[in-house]
Amino acid sequence: MGELTLRGYGQSATDRLLVGAEQFITLFHAENDLGSPERRIWQVRREIEATGTYWHTPAELAYGARVAWRNSSRCIGRLYWRSLRVRDLREVTAAPEIAAESVTHLREATNGGRIRPTITVFAPDMPDRAGPRILSSQLVRYAGYDLVGGGVVGDPTNTELTRLARGLGWPGGQPPGRFDILPLLVQEAGGPVTMHEIPADAVLEVPIEHPEYHWFANLGLRWYAVPVISDMYLDIGGVHYPAAPFNGWYMCTEIGSRDLGDGGRYGQLPVIATRMGLATADDRSLWKDKAATELNLAVLHSFSAAGVAITDHHTESVRFLQHVAREERHGRACPADWTWIVPPAASSTTPVFHRYYTDFDQTPNFYRHPAPGSQERDAGRARAQAVPVPGVRPAEEAAALCPYREGPYPEPSYPEPPYPEAPYQEEEHVPHLRMLGDSAQ
Ligand code: ARG
Repeated sequence: MGELTLRGYGQSATDRLLVGAEQFITLFHAENDLGSPERRIWQVRREIEATGTYWHTPAELAYGARVAWRNSSRCIGRLYWRSLRVRDLREVTAAPEIAAESVTHLREATNGGRIRPTITVFAPDMPDRAGPRILSSQLVRYAGYDLVGGGVVGDPTNTELTRLARGLGWPGGQPPGRFDILPLLVQEAGGPVTMHEIPADAVLEVPIEHPEYHWFANLGLRWYAVPVISDMYLDIGGVHYPAAPFNGWYMCTEIGSRDLGDGGRYGQLPVIATRMGLATADDRSLWKDKAATELNLAVLHSFSAAGVAITDHHTESVRFLQHVAREERHGRACPADWTWIVPPAASSTTPVFHRYYTDFDQTPNFYRHPAPGSQERDAGRARAQAVPVPGVRPAEEAAALCPYREGPYPEPSYPEPPYPEAPYQEEEHVPHLRMLGDSAQ
């Protein structure tokens, strides 16, 4: 056991916290040219020894949250990590206030369509008292109602959340609709789950129409403007913030290819292909490919027409490689998970497809809480420790199934991103602000 008690491998939670804290404080000082971290580390160490935890300064919190984004290996949109707006609400623990501040987050992040990447940090876990949790996976979620004979009305990914809300007395849509916004489910430390209606005027939604197919609008599809992830905890220097909802803006394939396209979600491809007059009985007509492309196009078109920021997978792929290159220039490796980074549509037409990445877990970071009702203990950490996911083939096996991809990978054939190196200034480099003709930029 001798080696195991070396610094960094001690057994107690306090030891782990000390190590995490020291690492983070060192990083914070190094990356912000703050000189020696020793004084602050000493202070933090004393605080941990006295109280079992420590309180980040507002600057540490803001930087930690931004670096958590930078370390999120599944996110293609990390070029803008420095622009994250951080709302410090660490004093807030009560469920009604969490709900109210989440609504404020939604309004401020939506910003009339000029979406601002934002995080709200609520109370941390303390040694004697866990922090609050938001059980909803995003602040805005559409209900999924189980039908008696099987099948779902609405979003099948949210059936469990919908059941929970119904159990708490939520009446649901009358009649149940495909796009009914669920109430927010919040749990105060050790307390019951409570339910909080989100005011309709806080949720910006975009009806989906197609630039050429006039029948498209009649499909009655819509989506909300801002994805605010709310079921992940933020880990900064060993301190856990269990409720820390954060958002960026959408990339069109998230909505088109996945949310509205996936068979296990809204499953709209057959409907669209049929309206397009494609032979849906024949895979070789490529009806799925064509329908998915038109759906992605409709999403992009509709968001733009509504003045809501959204990006496309081609642009964002180039920007991601620009981010990787910039990180390397700063002497940092950029962790990335190929299976998440590569877009689900037109993959090989984007430059991110044509190379591999190294993935590794680094804090600060975001980790997913186990879903309500699941037996899993800590889904996020399981991923971070690279526990094999059932059903996913080992890399060699997958490569063997794909003969053209064997052997050494060529260098990406795309040129270096043409974008000039922009200074990291709040808002200035956020592309949609320019796209929407904001004269203030
Ligand atoms: N893929 C998720 C959805 O479709 C959102 C994940 C976060 N996306 C983002 N662009 N920040 O709702």
